[in-house]
Amino acid sequence: MCAQLIKKVNVKTLKKIKDSGEKFSVLTAYDYSTAKYLDEAGIDVILIGDSLAMVALGYETTHCVGVEEMRIFTKAVAKGVERALVVTDMPFLSYHTDVASAIQNCGEMIKSGANAVKIEGCSDYILEVMKRLVETGIPVMGHLGFTPQFLNTLGGYKIQGKTQEAADEILKQAKQLEASGVFAIVLEMMPQESAKYITENLSVPTISCGAGKYCDAQVLVSDDVFGKYSDFTPKFARKYGDMKSFILDCAKKFDEDVKSGKFPSENEVF
Ligand code: KIV
Repeated sequence: MCAQLIKKVNVKTLKKIKDSGEKFSVLTAYDYSTAKYLDEAGIDVILIGDSLAMVALGYETTHCVGVEEMRIFTKAVAKGVERALVVTDMPFLSYHTDVASAIQNCGEMIKSGANAVKIEGCSDYILEVMKRLVETGIPVMGHLGFTPQFLNTLGGYKIQGKTQEAADEILKQAKQLEASGVFAIVLEMMPQESAKYITENLSVPTISCGAGKYCDAQVLVSDDVFGKYSDFTPKFARKYGDMKSFILDCAKKFDEDVKSGKFPSENEVF
């Protein structure tokens, strides 16, 4: 589409969508062409998730990915996107040691083409980092509930916010994030009634990642949606295609054609 006709999604657009009672869509992307197609399909927010540690790089957990890797994937994705809001997930240890290095590392993502960054958790220190980033002109998305970078302290992949008391605690954190200036909050792996309660008591949009239908938006890992990543698929992910079979099929046909001499044909040579 002609660049002048495209209305770029920004952080205020998402608040307007929430206030109008509509929903917005979020998918992860890690490369240029996938990002281009997601943008063309109308996805509103494209997240360079640190899930790329597992799905794109084959690491065990999100802890293993670093700032430089996230910067390279951010550059690739940002080049493919015209309309969607591009958000980079800040990797483990990239914002935890001191405010100055947090601003520096987040700023590198903005310089690489991201429009915003995502940060997990809610300690006094994290709230201070979020405030300072917003003051610097770096929009911040929060992430509460199950936070993968806290996997070891949470004791595994466990559903959060299961009791009223636990939901109240997440709501308290969400309100603190809101006061620090975040523009949206991911709620991961919690009962949908808890996410509903939290969503209804916030003015910023909530984005469900396995937190049910009452949030203002839904996010999934694109490799789950495409049926590409097969090592593990969470219960809350919906598979819309079977890219693994498609890739296997194409690769097998190519292999056969090469070995039988059918590729290349007369039309495929100079
Ligand atoms: O890393 C990621 O992909 C994420 C989302 C799925 C929320 O954090």
